[in-house]
Amino acid sequence: MKSLFLLLGALSFLAPVLCQQDQSGFISIDCGLPENSSYTEKNTGINYISDAIFIDSGVSKTVSPQNIATHEQYFTYLRSFPNGTRNCYRINVTISTAYLIRASFLYGNYDGLNKLPEFEVHVGTNLWDTLKFSDASVSVYKELFHPATRDYIEICLVNIGTGTPFISAIEMRIFTKNNAETKSYLTLSAARCRGLDLGSMNNSTSRYRDDIYDCLWEPYSVNGWRRLNRTHGEPNPTQKTGYLDGIYYAPASVMRTAATPRIATDSLDFYFHLDNSVAQIYAFKFYFAEVQKLAANETRSFNITVNDNYWKGPILPSYNQTTICYILTLDLPLRVNDDYRFSILPTEFSTLPPIINALEIFLVKDFSQPQTDKDQGTL
Ligand SMILES: *[C@@H]1O[C@H](CO)[C@@H](O)[C@H](O)[C@H]1NC(C)=O
Ligand SMILES: *[C@@H]1O[C@H](CO)[C@@H](O)[C@H](O)[C@H]1NC(C)=O
Ligand SMILES: *[C@@H]1O[C@H](CO)[C@@H](O)[C@H](O)[C@H]1NC(C)=O
Ligand SMILES: *[C@@H]1O[C@H](CO)[C@@H](O)[C@H](O)[C@H]1NC(C)=O
Ligand SMILES: *[C@@H]1O[C@H](CO)[C@@H](O)[C@H](O)[C@H]1NC(C)=O
Ligand SMILES: *[C@@H]1O[C@H](CO)[C@@H](O)[C@H](O)[C@H]1NC(C)=O
Ligand SMILES: *[C@@H]1O[C@H](CO)[C@@H](O)[C@H](O)[C@H]1NC(C)=O
Ligand SMILES: *[C@@H]1O[C@H](CO)[C@@H](O)[C@H](O)[C@H]1NC(C)=O
Ligand SMILES: *[C@@H]1O[C@H](CO)[C@@H](O)[C@H](O)[C@H]1NC(C)=O
Repeated sequence: MKSLFLLLGALSFLAPVLCQQDQSGFISIDCGLPENSSYTEKNTGINYISDAIFIDSGVSKTVSPQNIATHEQYFTYLRSFPNGTRNCYRINVTISTAYLIRASFLYGNYDGLNKLPEFEVHVGTNLWDTLKFSDASVSVYKELFHPATRDYIEICLVNIGTGTPFISAIEMRIFTKNNAETKSYLTLSAARCRGLDLGSMNNSTSRYRDDIYDCLWEPYSVNGWRRLNRTHGEPNPTQKTGYLDGIYYAPASVMRTAATPRIATDSLDFYFHLDNSVAQIYAFKFYFAEVQKLAANETRSFNITVNDNYWKGPILPSYNQTTICYILTLDLPLRVNDDYRFSILPTEFSTLPPIINALEIFLVKDFSQPQTDKDQGTL
């Protein structure tokens, strides 16, 4: 019963039902930006505002000069929380609406200490994620699909004794309005752990306006893979981006490229280590669309295995349509450890190597604990 409930809850985030073409559902907050200031980010055209109206604790800081030119403008300022263990943003939202929330962090040696902090980010009283940094100049972001159960959402930075918490930006985008049918899933959230653009031609992360919900899609490739692109001028596999027949599709710019093995008889192999996956529920979502015009005597057909067990197939990706396959870790036949190895293998009838266009990984979060009733600020 519980697993079915979770399954449906997770899937409701895989299939949003609101199409949105502009920034009307966007709240874009540049943390630490001087009070009352705002600007339009040049690459995306998104308007960012100061965080001053959402919080009254913490101090505004800026990253070191060498990090300013190399990152988006919203990484220049940040808000740091030297006092208190728990400092919260309180952001007004529309109740019964699911949001994509993205929190972004760039340490950038803002405090001159050159010491990478480690801290937690919570939604209300629920742990969302632990922030760890590999490099002062490498930004980190966390994405979460989260249904608003109140008319505000609290995002809290929590000091765990391993450095001063800070935050660079908070972005919220309306993803779907919950209706009568989805109301029962209101307590479930899902962290979007990865959004991978396979076969990307320019190595750059894509987001709004390619993705109308402003999800981030990171280029991903491994040795031994080749990139495929649709022929110039060919229409995209899904003309409608966002959703089609109630299913969320990766944006056309992500779907028009694909990864394929260099050697036609090889498989495409993915290996993921997911922490604590026996206790938690992850979802994998695979996207396929043909990128080449096949001759009459050509066939592209493949099966997918997970940890060497057959999962799906044969899949024959269509040129004008996206095929989506998803699976929850709790439904996988073999869950002996936290390792997941997916192989996309050509079938015996295939004359062409397998392809994959995009891949997402979600972690289902049970945030049914209430948020704090206390006011914003240090608790
Ligand atoms: C921000 O705007 C408000 C309302 O217009 C004003 O009261 C406040 O003084 C302004 N703050 C700064 C720092 O300019
Ligand atoms: C932190 O606390 C100290 C001592 O109470 C105070 O002087 C300082 O202004 C506080 N800093 C912030 C950012 O709140
Ligand atoms: C959020 O909503 C509350 C209650 O409606 C209101 O008092 C407050 O000013 C709002 N905050 C912002 C930042 O809009
Ligand atoms: C993308 O990155 C790969 C690996 O780092 C490199 O081989 C390739 O030339 C890059 N492509 C572009 C268009 O920058
Ligand atoms: C891939 O296709 C797009 C759209 O037709 C085109 O603009 C781009 O130049 C192509 N890239 C490469 C590396 O072929
Ligand atoms: C990278 O390519 C995609 C299409 O494949 C395009 O939407 C995006 O704007 C490109 N990014 C840059 C920085 O050129
Ligand atoms: C398909 O047909 C073409 C000629 O029409 C030929 O060159 C090619 O080798 C054939 N491919 C396969 C996989 O049979
Ligand atoms: C894809 O759709 C376009 C436009 O509808 C059509 O012209 C083309 O023949 C289709 N291609 C294939 C391979 O089905
Ligand atoms: C692919 O899956 C089909 C359907 O289960 C099966 O008949 C076929 O043998 C599989 N092919 C390979 C190469 O695993």
